Amino acid sequence: MALTAKSSQVQTVHTVLGLESSCDETAASVVRRNSDGGIDILSSIIASQDEIHRPFGGVVPEIAARAHLDIVDSLTAQAVRESGVEWDDLDAIAATAGPGLIGGVIAGLMTAKGLALALEKPLIAVNHLEGHALSPALASPCPFPYLLLLVSGGHTQLLSVNGLGDYTRLGSTVDDAAGEAFDKTAKIMGLGFPGGPKVDAAAKTGDPKSHKLPKPFAGKDHADFSFAGLKTATARAYAAIENPTDQDRSDVAASFQRTVSDVIIDRCKQAMKLFKSQHPDQSEYRFVVAGGVAANSEIRASLKTWCQDKGYALNFPPLKFCTDNAAMIALAGAERLAAGDIDDLSAKARPRWPLDDKQAADDPKSGSGRKGPKS
Ligand code: KG4
Ligand code: ZN
Repeated sequence: MALTAKSSQVQTVHTVLGLESSCDETAASVVRRNSDGGIDILSSIIASQDEIHRPFGGVVPEIAARAHLDIVDSLTAQAVRESGVEWDDLDAIAATAGPGLIGGVIAGLMTAKGLALALEKPLIAVNHLEGHALSPALASPCPFPYLLLLVSGGHTQLLSVNGLGDYTRLGSTVDDAAGEAFDKTAKIMGLGFPGGPKVDAAAKTGDPKSHKLPKPFAGKDHADFSFAGLKTATARAYAAIENPTDQDRSDVAASFQRTVSDVIIDRCKQAMKLFKSQHPDQSEYRFVVAGGVAANSEIRASLKTWCQDKGYALNFPPLKFCTDNAAMIALAGAERLAAGDIDDLSAKARPRWPLDDKQAADDPKSGSGRKGPKS
C-alpha cells in the first residue's frame, strides 16, 4: 500500500539506502537526492555471484537466494559505513520488491523491512525495472519524457517514460529477452558465463558479415522484438561448422552481435515514431538505454550514431550502472520519497511486476523473456 511520507513535506534532501537482490548480484548503496534533484552516490557495493553459478552455465535460483542471504546484512552495513552517513540519518530504506527470482527478492526485501522497523524509517518497495528506467540520472540529469530501451537478461522492452511512475509500453519481446539470446549464444559456443561480455569480446576479432542471420520483425510497423528465431539460426550456423576454431567462434559472435544491433536500431526507429506521436510538442526528443545489454560495445556505438544522426539527446548510464546495482534502487527510492510515495511493512515480494501495470493487464506479451522476468 502506498502511504504519504509526512517528513517529505518539509524535508528537501533525501538520503536513502537501497538494496538489490533480484537476480545474481547482491548490492547495497546509499544515494542522496539534493533539493535541486541532483544525485550524489555516497556508496555503491556490488557482490556478483558469477563464480557460484558458472559451473551451471546459468543462474540457479535456490543457490542465488542462499548466497544473497549469506552476505546481504554485512554488505548493507559496509555500504552505510562507506557512505559516511549514520544509520539514523537515513531517510528511508528502499529494496527491490520484484520482478525477479523470488527467493532473492525476499532476502533483500525482508532485510529492508527489518531495518525500516528497527530504525523507524519508511520502507520503499521498488520495482527493479523502475530502477533501470531511472538509472541514467545517476550520471547526469535526464528530464522526462523520454523513450527508454530496457534491454537486459530478463527484459527487452521499449517504454515511454512520461514521468515518475508513469510508463507506457510501446514494444516488448514476444519470446526471449536480448540478454538471454546473448547468454545462449555464448553457451552453445562454450564461451563461458555470463555470455554477453564473452560474445562482445569474441566479436572484436570476428567478421560480422561471415554469417547471414535473420532479422526478426525488421521493417514491421510496430515496436516488438523477437529473438528466438535468431538464437536458433545462430546455433544452426555454429553447428554447421566442422571442428570450429577460435576464429570461427569470433565470426559467429560478430555476425550475431551485428544482427542484434541492427534489429535493435530498427525497433527503436519504430518506437521513436510512436513516442513522437504521443509527445508531439517536444522541442527535443530524448532516448535512454538501460539494462545489462546496454553495456554491449557495438549496440552502444550504433545507438550513439543513430541518435547523433537524428539529433536526439542520448543518455547512457555509465557501464557499472547498466547491469544490476543498488544505486538505481536507492535513486528510485529517493525519487519516490521526494514525491511522498512510500510503502508499509505489508509490501509484497513480486516475481512478476510489469512497469505499466494497467496496460500489461490487457496485453498478454510479458516483455520479460520466455523463462520469466529474470531468467
Ligand atoms: O541488467 P542485468 O544485469 O540483469 C537483468 O536485470 O537481467 O543484465 C544482465 C544481462 C545478461 O544477459 C548479460 O549477458 C548481459 O546483460 N550483458 C551483455 C553485456 N554485458 C552484460 N550483453 C551483451 N554485451 C555485453 N557487453
Ligand atoms: Zn536488471
